[in-house]
Amino acid sequence: MRYILTSIIALYVGLLGASAQSLPVIPLPAEIKPGVGSFTLTSATKIVVKTESAGVRKACDLFLALVNPSTGLDIGYAPSSAFPIVVELDSLITNPEGYQLKVTPRDVTIRAQTPAGIFYAFQTLRQMLPPMIESRTMVAHDSWKIPAAEINDAPRFPYRGLMLDVVRHFFPVNDIKRYIDLMAMHKFNYLHLHLTDDQGWRIEIPGYPELQSISAWRKETLIGHLNDEPHRYDGARYGGYYTQAELKELVRYAADRHVAIVPEIEMPGHATALLAAHPELACSGSYFEVARDWGIFPNLLCPKEDTFLFLEHILFEVMNIFPDKYIHIGGDECPKEQWQKSEFCHNMKIQNDLQTDEQLQTWFMRRIARYVQSYGRQVIGWDELLDGGNIPGAVIMSWRGEQGGVAAARKGNRVIMTPHRYCYFDYYQWRNRNEEPLAAGSYLPLSMVYMYDPIPKELTGDQKQFIMGAQGNLWTEYIADERQVEYMAYPRACALSEVTWSPADRKSYNLFLNRLREHSKRLEMLNVNFARHLLAK
Ligand code: ACM
Repeated sequence: MRYILTSIIALYVGLLGASAQSLPVIPLPAEIKPGVGSFTLTSATKIVVKTESAGVRKACDLFLALVNPSTGLDIGYAPSSAFPIVVELDSLITNPEGYQLKVTPRDVTIRAQTPAGIFYAFQTLRQMLPPMIESRTMVAHDSWKIPAAEINDAPRFPYRGLMLDVVRHFFPVNDIKRYIDLMAMHKFNYLHLHLTDDQGWRIEIPGYPELQSISAWRKETLIGHLNDEPHRYDGARYGGYYTQAELKELVRYAADRHVAIVPEIEMPGHATALLAAHPELACSGSYFEVARDWGIFPNLLCPKEDTFLFLEHILFEVMNIFPDKYIHIGGDECPKEQWQKSEFCHNMKIQNDLQTDEQLQTWFMRRIARYVQSYGRQVIGWDELLDGGNIPGAVIMSWRGEQGGVAAARKGNRVIMTPHRYCYFDYYQWRNRNEEPLAAGSYLPLSMVYMYDPIPKELTGDQKQFIMGAQGNLWTEYIADERQVEYMAYPRACALSEVTWSPADRKSYNLFLNRLREHSKRLEMLNVNFARHLLAK
């Protein structure tokens, strides 16, 4: 009897195309209605584009570039087909990143308001195909089935980000492209590149050759952890920078995948590498060396006219390379001793009626913000930005905790949540540190990322609208290559993708883990070096 019953259930489940939880799609779509049977990719399958646009074509091209090599099929475009994948822009889909995806045994239909929605529908469709679809070479597979379903999907938040620190370690453009590929598959839409810091300057700025010849290079690098005493160094010159042409190409590559790049230029702190080339921008001192250690350094840019003109020139170049709305102006971790000792800063405070050094910092950042905003762009800064007052229009990245974000939202500033307790992927992900590669410290398991809610509980209804989303941060002091980047980012980025995309009331850590086990086969096919031991538990 029990045998018959399980057989009937198995048959029923087999007939049903997709039960909501049997679809291993990450992030979990907002709504999945299971259908009956499945659609199979064959040589008869064609993409039928109903509304032509360059963006729609690009999304379709990227799907074809994924499925044709692994299936060995020659799926292309046709005006009509017996087994079509119909793609159509539809203004009735209200969310600009949302989509409707219908899979029946006869056809697949994709509708979205914008090419971004079409692209996301294809990312979902991709994850409904067997993991072998990810192979770059043809694989023998009996059939390329997509379970029947109707999916209505849209993101919970408009900002879904990951940050990559390319200063503490430098990653070739191709590694960043791969990082973007993985982000796009998980429906992240902002890549924050941390381009300047004490240990290096990674962006070519014409007219300032010393930024390339001096600031981009450190003499050597600390071995082991910052807390290990005495400090030892590897004796190897280290560095590099991205040319403007490389960055423009990266911007294009990311844009095709609906990822906008947010460039960060740090100020007034984390500026040692800049000061190594331009000591005239400091309040005092004439010699600075690009840092070989990690940590917080006392070296600040001096709030004088020359500094502002210099930074404005840099930001002008940055805006020329990066066309998207947001420019990150840093602002974190500025110990104020150098300003306190400076006669110039003392006078600046008197002239501008400022009582504290925090107010001087906010005054500094407000001036920079106004410059960027005068070009129709928007600034993002770390939550220290508002310690000394307000900066109208600045978007605050709340990293020290959630309080910076709460305070900013209450002032009417928009907020990206990235509290280190939930969003710092440079922390250990496994309790037993001895079994893990060296990491920054602290502990952020997968479950804690998954459980995070970017909307702080203390915000009222009106204030909640200021939360734009959340971001995972990958600081790379202890991450020297792409393999280790992936190990630290995945699968925690999978969890964060559900935090930022999926409806809060549909989240379940256990069901996520079930989907992640399936999803990990896809990551495996993509040769992603994800942390596997977390999946075994
Ligand atoms: C930061 O982690 N210093 C933003």
